[in-house]
Amino acid sequence: MSTATRPTQPIFDQEPDAMRCPYPHYARLRHEAPVFHDTEHDIYVVTRHADIERVNTAPRLFSSQNPMGPTVSGAVAAVGRALSDATPEFAERVRVVMSRGDVLFTQDPPDHTRHRRILAKAFTPRSVTRIEPRIRELCHGLVDGFAVSGDPGEVDLVPAFCSPAPVQALATLLGVPVEKSGDFARWADAINAAIGTTMTDEALLATLETQIEFWTFFENEIADRERDPGDDLLSAIVRARDEGDEPLTRNEMVGFCSQFIGAGADTTTKLIASFVLMLCENPDLMAQVRSRPEELPRYLEEALRLESPVQGLFRVATEDTELGGVAIPAGAHVWVVYASGNRDEEVFDAPESFDPDRAHLRSHQAFGHGPHSCIGAPLARSVARIAVEVLLERLDDIALAEPGFVPRYDPSYVMHGMQRLPLTFTAR
Ligand code: HEM
Repeated sequence: MSTATRPTQPIFDQEPDAMRCPYPHYARLRHEAPVFHDTEHDIYVVTRHADIERVNTAPRLFSSQNPMGPTVSGAVAAVGRALSDATPEFAERVRVVMSRGDVLFTQDPPDHTRHRRILAKAFTPRSVTRIEPRIRELCHGLVDGFAVSGDPGEVDLVPAFCSPAPVQALATLLGVPVEKSGDFARWADAINAAIGTTMTDEALLATLETQIEFWTFFENEIADRERDPGDDLLSAIVRARDEGDEPLTRNEMVGFCSQFIGAGADTTTKLIASFVLMLCENPDLMAQVRSRPEELPRYLEEALRLESPVQGLFRVATEDTELGGVAIPAGAHVWVVYASGNRDEEVFDAPESFDPDRAHLRSHQAFGHGPHSCIGAPLARSVARIAVEVLLERLDDIALAEPGFVPRYDPSYVMHGMQRLPLTFTAR
């Protein structure tokens, strides 16, 4: 066994070109040091598909207690410092909010298994298909906001469409008025602010105030459903029980909502924007998608593989172990780079090319793998498909508004997506 470290450029540099296109760097790691100890950040970077599966299917050995990685641990420490003068009540509120209800993402078996088992009774595929007509209406409403029938137009698609569509879908699913979706977007930003990037203590505290506002809103919503249940996901969560399981606590229920909004809004936004950019950059692809609309789910699967909104997440080794011949000590952070597994030539032929007809189309790891794999994948797939269907139905001649447009990506090594997408079009 070796403790291989090689002089490869650290992966966490937030340099714009690397943010936009980290793939050559991942490929180098896959070939030269597939389990790479980045000594500068003391993180083990896992880039091959098979090794990622090994990590993700051993949740007791590779714990999810800190899946968002070192910047979030840094944020927790910073909050501790910043709260030294706070009242005990405020400090306790912050602790609850930061724990996100101690559910799902940050939990290991057996608690994690209990959460998934209970949630499987509420967050069913039917709960998603049931709201699809409403998601379509909402997407049309968003296009109405920037397109006038028969006229040419111009829009920055990210704020006008890619961002609100998933948030409005989530509000609908949970049973909260769509008018609250502006707040949802703010809350989602606050929940995710510390992931994959660094923040000042002041900025961090501001996000906590916003998260407390979110937490209070959902505590009240859940209390309402307990008194007067409806047919939405929140009511189903309140009702969900599994024989022999402890009932969910109020904090666990709000924690689910916090994770749905934190994990479900921005990710789906990034998928829609990346796919529309691909269509604009490749007119043949645009023509193919327009001529094979029933195949859209396959095209979106390839977009997920090639431009994964979540590039990778973290695990912590619970004991001394070994992966790919590299010794990993107990307590080490391990970064499973899903976006690299998605271009692993051992699994995908010609991994750099866009091929919706490829074998193993759904073997990508864009939704993770194993017990923590994305619980919202059916919703993400529905929202992205309906959003693109509506755009293509309503708009012709979709093109980039700025010649030579180079998208600017969020400065995060976890989340991958562009900040703006200015387009021109002719509205039907
Ligand atoms: C394109 C959109 C999406 C992408 C790329 C994505 C990606 C992921 C990934 C990679 C994981 C694995 C986490 C890990 O390995 O620790 C995950 C888990 C999760 N996702 Fe998604 N997601 C998307 C949409 C959604 C939506 C719409 C929701 C909710 C409504 C959602 C809720 C969650 C939750 C709660 C988990 C944690 C599951 C657990 O730990 O058991 N995601 N997602």
